[in-house]
Amino acid sequence: MESSDLTETGTMRHVVYDRFGERDVLRVTESPIPQPGEGEVLVRVHGAGLNPIDWKTRKGMGFVATQIENSLPWTPGYDAAGEVVDVGEGVTTLVPGDRVMGMIGFPVTGGAYAEYAIADAEDLAIVPEELDLIAAAGVPLAALTAWQALFEVAELESGQKILIHAGAGGVGHFAVQFALERGAHVIVTASSRNRDFLAELGVHEVIDYHTTDFTEECYGLDVVLDLVGGETGKRSLQTLSDSGVLVTIPTVTADDVVSAAEAMGVRAHGMRSRPDAFHLDEIAELIEDGDVKVHVEQVFSLDQVQAAHELLEGGHVRGKLVLDCR
Ligand SMILES: NC(=O)c1ccc[n+]([C@@H]2O[C@H](COP(=O)([O-])OP(=O)(O)OC[C@H]3O[C@@H](n4cnc5c(N)ncnc54)[C@H](OP(=O)(O)O)[C@@H]3O)[C@@H](O)[C@H]2O)c1
Repeated sequence: MESSDLTETGTMRHVVYDRFGERDVLRVTESPIPQPGEGEVLVRVHGAGLNPIDWKTRKGMGFVATQIENSLPWTPGYDAAGEVVDVGEGVTTLVPGDRVMGMIGFPVTGGAYAEYAIADAEDLAIVPEELDLIAAAGVPLAALTAWQALFEVAELESGQKILIHAGAGGVGHFAVQFALERGAHVIVTASSRNRDFLAELGVHEVIDYHTTDFTEECYGLDVVLDLVGGETGKRSLQTLSDSGVLVTIPTVTADDVVSAAEAMGVRAHGMRSRPDAFHLDEIAELIEDGDVKVHVEQVFSLDQVQAAHELLEGGHVRGKLVLDCR
């Protein structure tokens, strides 16, 4: 089918919610396929990655909910991987047929939980041939968050000692691999069922947070990457060296953790991740070279989106969850 026919006559299935609430507000509906505007492309989505912000926003929590509350119904999803099927005016970097992935529509547009999605061309990276488009959907937001936290905020260097909380999760398993690749000594908190998974990634030490208090095992750290937040973030401050830095990722508790750090006279920062195709390309190269792997724990169909959110919300996913939107 010509892409122009597709945009004029075609419809697509996508997930929406009309109000904030529990996962039963998620439903699949049909709408016309959108058309790409200037600088945009239309992507036939193969995989849409899930991220904790998806369920938090669905519940009406966090900064995105405030921005979208008057524009419901809304289609969630910031991670898309698929094939370019149409390009808007002024797009010179991509052509139909390109296999792409990206953090799209962030933060107010969303739209990845769909058979087709609009993306800014400049947010997309080419997917390495070795990587299938379902696994690729697990990469953008989580990997970019890990990258920005480690290298832009914490400025992690070779030989430094880093503690990564929740190292087996979406952001965590990328952070572990990036930190190892950079030559850091990597300590991770996780439950024991993730020990072998993390050992295979090359982690130096795994602390089972159910049985062991990490503050008794860690001291003089150069960097803590806090992917849990709250009390875990605050208690981690005592493990830092004088020049150490903590980056706390969950936005809901970031102010609390940063205030506690100020009171103790140590450095801590919150952050908000953002699309960045330049570094996504660099991450794609690491994947292409076999230096970084994407772990997808489970794949769901669009119709199974409620079950996917149930697992996501449980907070114990290993790696990523992806919707297969084909
Ligand atoms: N600021 C931003 O821009 C930004 C960007 C991305 C993510 N985030 C936030 O960062 C957090 C992490 O995101 P994510 O995508 O990595 O989440 P995720 O994939 O859902 O994290 C799941 C992992 O957390 C681990 N876990 C749960 N409780 C733990 C604890 N007390 N100690 C150690 N590990 C624990 C689980 O391991 P076990 O099964 O072994 O317990 C599981 O592997 C979320 O709150 C998310 O909303 C913020």
